[in-house]
Amino acid sequence: MKGTIVINEQVVPNVKRLVLEAPAIARRAKPGQFVILIPDAEGERIPFTLSDWDASEGTITIFYLEAGVSTMKLTRLKPGEAVHTLVGPLGKPTEIEKFGTVLLGGGCYGLGGIYPLARAFKEKGNKVIALLEARTSYLIYNEDKIREVADEVIIATADGSRGVRGHVWESIKILEERGENIDHAHFVGCTYMMMTSSNATEPAGIPTVVSLNSLMVDGTGMCGCCRVLVGGETKFSCVDGPDFDGHLVDWGNVFARAGAYVAEENLAYQFHQSRADGAIKEDGCKNCSKEAV
Ligand SMILES: Cc1cc2nc3c(=O)[nH]c(=O)nc-3n(C[C@H](O)[C@H](O)[C@H](O)COP(=O)(O)OP(=O)(O)OC[C@H]3O[C@@H](n4cnc5c(N)ncnc54)[C@H](O)[C@@H]3O)c2cc1C
Ligand code: FES
Repeated sequence: MKGTIVINEQVVPNVKRLVLEAPAIARRAKPGQFVILIPDAEGERIPFTLSDWDASEGTITIFYLEAGVSTMKLTRLKPGEAVHTLVGPLGKPTEIEKFGTVLLGGGCYGLGGIYPLARAFKEKGNKVIALLEARTSYLIYNEDKIREVADEVIIATADGSRGVRGHVWESIKILEERGENIDHAHFVGCTYMMMTSSNATEPAGIPTVVSLNSLMVDGTGMCGCCRVLVGGETKFSCVDGPDFDGHLVDWGNVFARAGAYVAEENLAYQFHQSRADGAIKEDGCKNCSKEAV
């Protein structure tokens, strides 16, 4: 059945691999696209990048982090259970051209998200260099899959426990120092990484694409929630993107919009965690007597 969970397993701390039955999405998926799902009947719509798909098996793969209430609900679903709603593929596919040498940088869920890009750019005849970043060595995942399709894989860890000490943007400098001629760059992951990496490629004039992860609601261009400023123009990430020119994105605007509901999100997260742990019952909090919200 569409949306039935095949696998929902932890791959490294706080990152889960979710394989869902979704034959129609698996048949039409293209690199760079995403899906929106609702974990349960009371849940909200959450977008996830397609990290892989198998048309013959009728499945799609997502890597996700527990960030708040909805992703927490998702972590608790088991194989055989189904998410409430699943729609996709959404967004414009990434433009896969023969550029020459393509640099792909991934951090956070982007270690999953760059895999289909690496595969497609390689199939198109490019030399593919993949930069994988994490805080520490044991948070690197999906490396084997990316090595299958990339010409070179560079690991960067913030604590220096493996590979380059630092982040994607520091590794870009190392590539430049060794004289690597990069024709195209694409970054997937947290906003800060995509911004700093775009800043790193700009002086060298390397055309750079980022997969923006703006807040989304409907995912069809109707609500305006995902709007971003790119080159001074308003764009909707869900239908005009999620890929945009990293050198034209107004990053201040992206950060401001992403942080708009952080206080409410944190409150809701703490409340739901407490309820799941039994400290708050459906009808209110047994510690402070406040009613459930
Ligand atoms: C196109 C796209 C692709 C994405 N791909 C992935 C992915 O492959 N794996 C993954 O783990 N995450 C991905 N995200 C981010 C993911 O959608 C959010 O982490 C998720 O919606 C958080 O929901 P929550 O209720 O658990 O947390 P919330 O309590 O809603 O928020 C917790 C944090 O997540 C951020 N966030 C909340 N809602 C969204 C949203 N709709 N879009 C973006 N950020 C949000 C908030 O700014 C906040 O910092 C993607 C987002 C977009 C727009
Ligand atoms: S999410 Fe509503 S317009 Fe993009």
